[in-house]
Amino acid sequence: MTRIQVHGGVPLQGEVWISGAKNAVLPILVGSLLGDSPSRISNVPHLQDVTTTMELMGRMGAELSISDRMLIEIDPRSMASFEAPYELVKTMRASILVLGPLVARYGRARVSLPGGCAIGSRPVDLHLKGLEALGARVEVRNGNIEARADRLTGARIIMDTVTVTGTENILMAATLARGTTVIENAAQEPEVVDLADFLISMGAQIEGAGTNTITVEGVDNLAGTDYAVLPDRIETGTYLVACAMTGGRVRCTRARPSHLDAVLNKLTDTGAEIEVGDDWIELDMRGRKLRSVDITTAPYPGFPTDMQAQFMAMNAIADGTSVVTETIFENRFMHVQELQRLGADIRVKGNTAIIRGVPRLNGAPIMATDLRASASLVLAGLVAEGMTLIDRVYHIDRGYEIIEEKLSGLGARIKRVGSAET
Ligand code: UD1
Repeated sequence: MTRIQVHGGVPLQGEVWISGAKNAVLPILVGSLLGDSPSRISNVPHLQDVTTTMELMGRMGAELSISDRMLIEIDPRSMASFEAPYELVKTMRASILVLGPLVARYGRARVSLPGGCAIGSRPVDLHLKGLEALGARVEVRNGNIEARADRLTGARIIMDTVTVTGTENILMAATLARGTTVIENAAQEPEVVDLADFLISMGAQIEGAGTNTITVEGVDNLAGTDYAVLPDRIETGTYLVACAMTGGRVRCTRARPSHLDAVLNKLTDTGAEIEVGDDWIELDMRGRKLRSVDITTAPYPGFPTDMQAQFMAMNAIADGTSVVTETIFENRFMHVQELQRLGADIRVKGNTAIIRGVPRLNGAPIMATDLRASASLVLAGLVAEGMTLIDRVYHIDRGYEIIEEKLSGLGARIKRVGSAET
C-alpha cells in the first residue's frame, strides 16, 4: 500500500500549474453521451475519478480514446448498455450523473443507488424528483434506481436544497426534453456553468447558468463538440493555503481567479498578500504572521465546503482562535481526529469546530479519510516538525493530479513510498 511521506518545515516557493476541474470534467464526460456524434474533451486532469468515469462509459459501449496529452474522445454511437453497477458507483458517487443523460437520450437507465459515504448520508432524492417532474418513471428496486421515459417533457422544477450534481443531472436531461424547463434554486457553481457551456456548444439552448434560475429550451438532438475543461478552483485554493501555511510565495498559473473570491478574501484576512492576473494568482506570506480566520461553508458564491478541511489545517497553526462551521454536509470533520494526532487543538460540537492555533504541529502516522480531508493532512504535514506519513492516499488520487510532484516542484520534501520503504 503506498503512502505519502512529508517532512515539514520548507516554505513553498515557485510556480504550480492548475489542472482541469474534477467536478467539471465528470459531468462533461457523461454529458457527451447526449450527443449523436463524438466529442473531444481537453484539459482533462489525470485522476482516479476520470478513470472510473471512462470505465463506466466504456462498459456501456461508448468508444473512448485518450491521447498522451489527456485529450479524451468519446463516441457514444456504439452505446449498448445503460447501467451503472454498484462496484463503480460505490467508488465514485458522481456516477449518479449518468442518470440524466441516459434517460433523456436512450430512454432508460439503471444506476446503483449510492450508499452512505464518509462525509454523511448524501441522498439523491432531488435528482429523482427532478427527473420525475420531467416525466421519467423512476423506481428504486434491489438497490438500483431504474428510470424510463419515452421523451421527457419540460417542467418547472424548484429544488428544495441547492444541489450541484442534482442541478447538473436535471440540466442534462432537460436539454433533450420537449418544451421548456425552468430549474429554480439551481446551484450556481462554476462547474455547473462549465457543463452548461459544454452543452450549449453541443447545440443545447440554456440560459441563466451561474444564476439561481436556469432555463432550458429542449432540442431534438445534440452533436458532439470540442471543449476544454475549466481550471480546478479547489486545487488552486489548496496550493494557496499550502503557501500561506508554510510562509512562502507561490504563483498558481492556468487558474481562474474570479472563481475564488470567497477563498481569496479569507486568505487576505490571514495576512497574506495576494496578486491576481487574468489566469494566475500569486500569494506571498514571507515574513508575515499567519492569522486564523472564521469560516462558514455555503453554496457558491459562498465559501466552498471542499476548502473547509484545508482552512481548518491552516487555522490549527495560525495565530488566535477560530470557528469553522460546516453547513453543507453532516460529518465532514473526519480530518479533525487526524489533525489532533499531529497536535492540533480542535474541539467539535455538532457542525462547528473551534480551533485554537498552536505554535507547531508534530509529524505522526495519519490516515486519509476522504478526498478533501486528505488534502488537509498533506498541508498539515508540510508544516509539522519531523515526518508525517499519510495512509490511504487513494482518496487524494481521486481529486489531486500528481500532488506530490507539484508540491516537490515548490520545494516541499514530499514523496510517495511503498510500505517497505517506511
Ligand atoms: C458536489 C461536489 C462536491 C461538493 C458538493 C458541495 C461533484 C462531483 N461533487 O457534490 O465536491 O462538496 O457538490 O459543493 O460535483 N442533497 C439532498 N438531496 C439530493 C442531493 C443533495 O438532500 O438529492 C443535499 C446533500 O445531502 C447536501 C447538499 O444537498 O447536504 C449539497 O449536496 P450536493 O450539492 O448535491 O453535493 P454533490 O453534488 O454530491
